[in-house]
Amino acid sequence: MCGIIGIIGKKNACKIALNVLKNLEYRGYDSAGLAYAQNKKLHTLKAIGKLKELYSKYEIIENEVKNVTLAIGHTRWATHGKVVIENTHPILSENIAVVHNGIIENHDNIRSQLKNKNVVFETSTDTEVIPHLLSVSIKNKNNFFNACISVINKIEGAYAFAAIESSKNEIFVARKTSPLVLGLGDGFNIVGSDAQSISHLVSEVIYLNDGDYAVLTESEIQIFASDNNKVEREKINIKSNINFLNKDGFRHFMEKEIHEQPNVLINTIGSLIKEEKDLNIFPEKMNIKNNYGITLCAAGTSHYAAMIGKYWIERFSSIPVNVELSSEYRYRSPAASMYSSMIVISQSGESIDTLMAMREAKRLNLTTTVITNVENSSIDREADYSIYTHVGPEVGVASTKSFTSQLIILLSLAMKLAFNNNKISIKKYLDFIKSLKLIPSFLSKILSLNENFMNLAQAIKNSHNILYLGRGILYPIALEGALKLKELSYIHSEGFAAGEMKHGPIALIEDGLPIIMFLASDGMEEKSISNLQEAIARGGKVFVISDEKNFGKISFIENKVLIPSFQGNWNDIFSPIFMSIPAQLIAYHVARERGTDVDQPRNLAKSVTVE
Ligand code: AGP
Repeated sequence: MCGIIGIIGKKNACKIALNVLKNLEYRGYDSAGLAYAQNKKLHTLKAIGKLKELYSKYEIIENEVKNVTLAIGHTRWATHGKVVIENTHPILSENIAVVHNGIIENHDNIRSQLKNKNVVFETSTDTEVIPHLLSVSIKNKNNFFNACISVINKIEGAYAFAAIESSKNEIFVARKTSPLVLGLGDGFNIVGSDAQSISHLVSEVIYLNDGDYAVLTESEIQIFASDNNKVEREKINIKSNINFLNKDGFRHFMEKEIHEQPNVLINTIGSLIKEEKDLNIFPEKMNIKNNYGITLCAAGTSHYAAMIGKYWIERFSSIPVNVELSSEYRYRSPAASMYSSMIVISQSGESIDTLMAMREAKRLNLTTTVITNVENSSIDREADYSIYTHVGPEVGVASTKSFTSQLIILLSLAMKLAFNNNKISIKKYLDFIKSLKLIPSFLSKILSLNENFMNLAQAIKNSHNILYLGRGILYPIALEGALKLKELSYIHSEGFAAGEMKHGPIALIEDGLPIIMFLASDGMEEKSISNLQEAIARGGKVFVISDEKNFGKISFIENKVLIPSFQGNWNDIFSPIFMSIPAQLIAYHVARERGTDVDQPRNLAKSVTVE
């Protein structure tokens, strides 16, 4: 993770870099720093904690640095070395400063070699080998540019870095796997970890290809491919979305993003529907074939979306679906001959585990598709085919609107496959399309139950352990509810398939243990209710979020929230989309009550770009 920025040729470079770091804070917020060149001397400014700490330090020197035109900056998600000032980037060696995102996997080896040359290390970071290698190379009579190339040839791993030398009016940047975007300004140039972060400053950007490196001066950008040949890369016009950091009156971005689902999912659904008669989903482009299976692959919340996708696709189209965790797929030597297509799901389009899994699938000759929210993200650029969720930037670290939009796309894919395979009639297909359009307003109804989830949150906020249960298609929602709660409130919570309780987890139940069940009206509710009885008999404090149709069956349960039934025949099928809202609201309100940092929970980052 980590966010990096470099700017050259514009006054107030430090302030501009700080503002860009604000946009990159989602990538890590353990500490932040700047390095800038003034009168050919290098200076740094560093602070532990959120960016506001660095802003405070900056205010003290603001007047002195107004004329600075060359700066690099970094917001850190610690990998190597504790969160202390010494390990805060930029990392220096003599008159060289480096900001780095990713991991230098062979840093131990390089460190030993450099120590043998009497180089003294001052940080515990893997990054520090880069500036030292540069210094050593320059001492050996290489110029800065050649020294940078020699470093690229030595370091291994996934990285993006920017380096400056105090006497040179240039920024050297390189990327391998981790993202890096160059922005072409009027009389200045800039580099950042994503396009959004610099979109208020430039209208044209260049995405570096994997393995590219580049030199930025105030008037020119030169790009080189990994074979060292100079290359031109496409310039892309971007729209500025400076309002993405606006909470619109909500207390937190997460709260805003939960409540804006009815609005933004209209975009997702709009992009899927073709003249009310068909869906803009093209299984042939995804190389989905009836006698082969599909692999769905993702991490975290996106992985739970994949699990639900499996239920839908297999149920409606009978095409076998294999669900994989991205972090496992790449290294487990998967047997892929039964599969023709891999669909990866990634809100950010940057999760390195998912990117690597997708590369592995390509190596195994699978056609790759990504479902993502971020156009031009690394995964989007490498996938054979892309489907966008169109829900706008998601700032809160916890996935909310991106999850429900992923579900809508997966369900639409399932229905399209079912229709193509004559598993559903045209009537049912058209009815699905019609019903899809009703989802946003229906979600508003569920959101209007907010107070009920606030009360539920009050009741569980002081618990140390919480269980979530769901059956069938709501089992992944139990997993998602538990993940949301643990990442936001730091309460230990686990999700289980209701039917699995008796196979072990029931041993956890003791007097007063909160158990939250998501209950559909899908013909399986009696079995789930029996599981609840078993939990109550052992002292569990049960809370049920249920389709209102189950009202009579769960009258014995004191703590329940009834979700209105969706009109027509789609209630049970749509239930994971509907039940996502309670899962999100419960986690949000518990975190708010406990006073944790809702939008930037400890130890997490929005975009996970390290393995
Ligand atoms: C969700 O709330 C998490 N922050 C996390 O699990 C996330 O879903 C996961 O890291 C995958 O991210 P991606 O969708 O951007 O690839």
